[in-house]
Amino acid sequence: MTKPVKIEDYRVLAKRRLPKMVFDYLDGGAEDETGLTHNRAVFGSWRFQPKRLTDVSKRDLSTTLWGQSYPLPFLIGPTGLNGLLRPQGDAILARCAAREGVPFVLSTASTQSIEEVSRSSDGEKWFQLYVMRRDLALDLTRRALAADYTTLVLTVDVPVNGWRERDMRNGFGLPMRYTAKTLLDGATHPRWSLDLLRNGMPQLANFVSGRAVSSEAQAALMRREMDASFDWEALAQLRAVWPKRLLVKGVLSPEDAARCIAEGADGVILSNHGARQLDGCLSPMETLKGVRNATLETVLVDSGFRRGSDVVKALCLGANAVLLGRATLFGLAAAGEQGVLDVISLVRQEIDRTLALIGVSSVADLSSELLVRHIHEEALQHDAV
Ligand SMILES: Cc1cc2nc3c(=O)[nH]c(=O)nc-3n(C[C@H](O)[C@H](O)[C@H](O)COP(=O)(O)O)c2cc1C
Repeated sequence: MTKPVKIEDYRVLAKRRLPKMVFDYLDGGAEDETGLTHNRAVFGSWRFQPKRLTDVSKRDLSTTLWGQSYPLPFLIGPTGLNGLLRPQGDAILARCAAREGVPFVLSTASTQSIEEVSRSSDGEKWFQLYVMRRDLALDLTRRALAADYTTLVLTVDVPVNGWRERDMRNGFGLPMRYTAKTLLDGATHPRWSLDLLRNGMPQLANFVSGRAVSSEAQAALMRREMDASFDWEALAQLRAVWPKRLLVKGVLSPEDAARCIAEGADGVILSNHGARQLDGCLSPMETLKGVRNATLETVLVDSGFRRGSDVVKALCLGANAVLLGRATLFGLAAAGEQGVLDVISLVRQEIDRTLALIGVSSVADLSSELLVRHIHEEALQHDAV
């Protein structure tokens, strides 16, 4: 392939480099994967109505979160098992985010520990928390605080694991099981396999200590066995022990968003987990305007963002910033650090170009008046806005 010109090109390169089992883990969704298609199709249901004859010779892509200015209106979201895509994947993503001046969110299911990633980059780091057991969650929270993570992101859309049929068919899990099929998969992707041989099988690094509780936690996290009893009261308890900024990720309704804020959260992340949990749910884009009307606090959004124009549409509908999930992972898998930087650069250029083409010179001036909802896809039956 000649030089990639869009995120999808990086997806194709990632597919070439990764064994099928690993690519499917990265790319796949839950059940029939209708959510994957829906998350993408929904962006097409809003069309821009550009302004003309405005001075767009200088453009400002910065956004403000909690009074602090960031140069770009997107950041790198939390994803588990990044080390399977590239050795040191978490640190690479953290360093790229730092270089661009945006936050990086480390997953509970990271393959480098909270402390190691903290040492690897002096940029702003947030920590994403899965609650498998309350005592373990408290322990992780304390470690994130001690290692200078500024924001805790509590993920609430995994009371049970999404049914990922590609992973089940492939027998995906950690440690990887060596079967004839997986060995052939590895042998036909030699560059990836060499990396694995040189660096060893990635582990859930936050739980590596040789203690029984650690291996039990690793196994539970791989099976994604969460504490399904985690409720509003538990959120209030977490709020009481975490003194810094707290965000709740996985919210999909204005009522829940308002309640999170009432319970002391500093903002919400609207997300359907990139269609990896509940297959038949709304795209967060469809609930964004309603949530914006329900709260003045910070609203972030993810799921399905592959273009700068997607980011601009979310900002028009009231988001303060967007989290990239697979987009930066495709870059990581395809070309390591350079791939992540290229993906960030592509999205930045696309946002910049979109601003010029719609006649707006700064992210701060975006509003829903620039969009017209135009439902033509049969699949889009919801009109929540
Ligand atoms: C490979 C992969 C691993 C993920 N792991 C986590 C995780 O550990 N914690 C979490 O809160 N979300 C996780 N997510 C969800 C992302 O944070 C984000 O919500 C999603 O990727 C956004 O959709 P997109 O990939 O279409 O941009 C994961 C997503 C992917 C693709």
